[in-house]
Amino acid sequence: MTQDQLKALVGQAALAYVPPGSVVGVGTGSTVNHFIDALAGIKERIAGAVSSSERSSQRLRDHGIAVLDSNQVQRLPVYIDGADEIDGQGCMIKGGGGALTREKIVADLAEQFVCIADASKRVEVLGTFPLPVEVIPMAAAQVTRRLQALGARVVPRAGFVSDNGCPILDAHGLSIRDPLAMECEINQWPGVVTVGIFARHRARVCLLGTEQGVQTLHFAAGAVRAQCA
Ligand code: 5RP
Repeated sequence: MTQDQLKALVGQAALAYVPPGSVVGVGTGSTVNHFIDALAGIKERIAGAVSSSERSSQRLRDHGIAVLDSNQVQRLPVYIDGADEIDGQGCMIKGGGGALTREKIVADLAEQFVCIADASKRVEVLGTFPLPVEVIPMAAAQVTRRLQALGARVVPRAGFVSDNGCPILDAHGLSIRDPLAMECEINQWPGVVTVGIFARHRARVCLLGTEQGVQTLHFAAGAVRAQCA
């Protein structure tokens, strides 16, 4: 199977995690596009969606699915999104598509994060994929120096501005052995909007597309501290 066929497989499988009558949290990316297309087949059975990007909102609307503002909802039963990397505890690198800030906002509203990914995304240690960091423009140089001090080679994402009007720095070459600690550290640097480590908002379930079919990974609650120290 191609990588895209594996993404389609898990996009379809994620429908099992959508409660009838619910508002669904919807992520961003090529895997989620398959999920949105599958969701269109059951659109009469859901109340709508809260989306993490303009791209996903447009695709949802094109299918006739109502898109609610995140400020209109207090709680979502589930947030379904892809990942650039996911480790054995459900911690992820996200933001390859540049939607990390809105993804973390919608994930924060959700009772559980269901990650959908092809098998290539499953890693032992996060960091082979460059870590995205969205910044306020005037902090870009200082955040770059701080990331370099952690050992990263920093590449500003060329020609890119997020849905929030901010640039993204991609930090290459980090080996993220304690995702929660690094998320907490980078989050508190002045001018950082969002770091693309999802440890506090890690996945509870991952539907992994493999040659043998969909493999369901469950991540134990409490395996990662829930808060910064
Ligand atoms: C977008 C993301 C995506 O979830 C991540 O990049 C995976 O994308 P794809 O499903 O296209 O492989 O974080 O900001």
